[in-house]
Amino acid sequence: MNAPQTAIPVPRAAEVPFVRLDAADRRLMGEVFGAIERVAGVAAFTMGEELETFESEFAAWCETDHAIGVSSGTSALELALRGLGIGRGDEVIVPTNSFIATAEAVTATGATPVMVDVDEDTALLTAAIVEAALTERTRCVIPVHLYGRSVEMEPLLALCRDRGLRVVEDACQAHGSRYRGRPAGTHGDAGCFSFYPTKNLGAWGDGGAVVTADAELADRIRLMRSHGEGTRHHHEMAAGTHRLHSLQAAILSVKLKRLDEWNENRRQAAATLRGALAGSDLILPEPTSADGDHVYHLFVVRTPDRDALRAHLGERGVSSAIHYPTPIHLQPAYADGAASRGDLPVSERLAAESCSLPIFPSITEAELESIADAVGSFSP
Ligand SMILES: Cc1ncc(COP(=O)(O)O)c(C=O)c1O
Repeated sequence: MNAPQTAIPVPRAAEVPFVRLDAADRRLMGEVFGAIERVAGVAAFTMGEELETFESEFAAWCETDHAIGVSSGTSALELALRGLGIGRGDEVIVPTNSFIATAEAVTATGATPVMVDVDEDTALLTAAIVEAALTERTRCVIPVHLYGRSVEMEPLLALCRDRGLRVVEDACQAHGSRYRGRPAGTHGDAGCFSFYPTKNLGAWGDGGAVVTADAELADRIRLMRSHGEGTRHHHEMAAGTHRLHSLQAAILSVKLKRLDEWNENRRQAAATLRGALAGSDLILPEPTSADGDHVYHLFVVRTPDRDALRAHLGERGVSSAIHYPTPIHLQPAYADGAASRGDLPVSERLAAESCSLPIFPSITEAELESIADAVGSFSP
């Protein structure tokens, strides 16, 4: 009797994950476990030495004077704004092509986020876009170094200096990205970072930091992150809890030592992808220059056939994502804002056409080849 015929499974191309986190690096894991054991051994879980050590290391890495560890990138933005005295009645200009946290932080202070569009080529804010949105209530601008690419800061800083506006940089995706030699986060009054696990520098949970060269602002933010408590049981302001946990600080100290190397791996992976995809119909990320460095937190390509591209990649085992499918001004949370559909067309087009391809420091040549092959065999 013949054996029943069964379908022979077609071998699937190697799975390419969207990100690969720390568990794949045994040596790193060993060091992190050592740091966790050290913190657990002394049972100092909030504030204290581990936090102070990480803060001074991170400030030095950012080539600035102060870093204040806080509970998330969102808290970093909120505390930076509050520390600068932004609040009710003020307007803060925010690019709508960002993660919602950029606007949420403004809302949390009581100020109004004024959503504006971005430049078509870089997907970032420009001085001209900001200038067109200024009113007599504008107090601050938040340039977002989105995807890891630095915003062109000089014209923006000149405009803000002229008009007496504060600049809070959202560098949550841009650890180490430089503009004219200086790291993201150190151009304006304050720079805000997220240590969400998938970020270029990621904690094992939530975390964030504000960096600044302004000692008084740093002191205010230090107060605000922990109940406004100046000396024990003496609360100078009602501010809540926004602390970076000591465990996270200890983990971040271990990982910070590798961050330059990881950013370089991302840049090399991006160069490989850029070369391999050069002949495709996709719009690739703008090439970088001294004025617009990139640390490739994300490698975002564009095509009008985005959803078909993603389905095609998925069938070939290549993960992808969208950053972001809905611009902030079209989120239900901001339905009562001044901008509505059609008002900010570049960002709305980016939301419809952008596709983030996998990129992470440990991505292999074979994985990059799988991405290029999958994109290469796509025809809309
Ligand atoms: C551009 C941007 N801003 C702000 C944030 C907020 O950071 P967190 O998630 O740590 O609050 C993020 C994080 O996803 C981000 O990507």
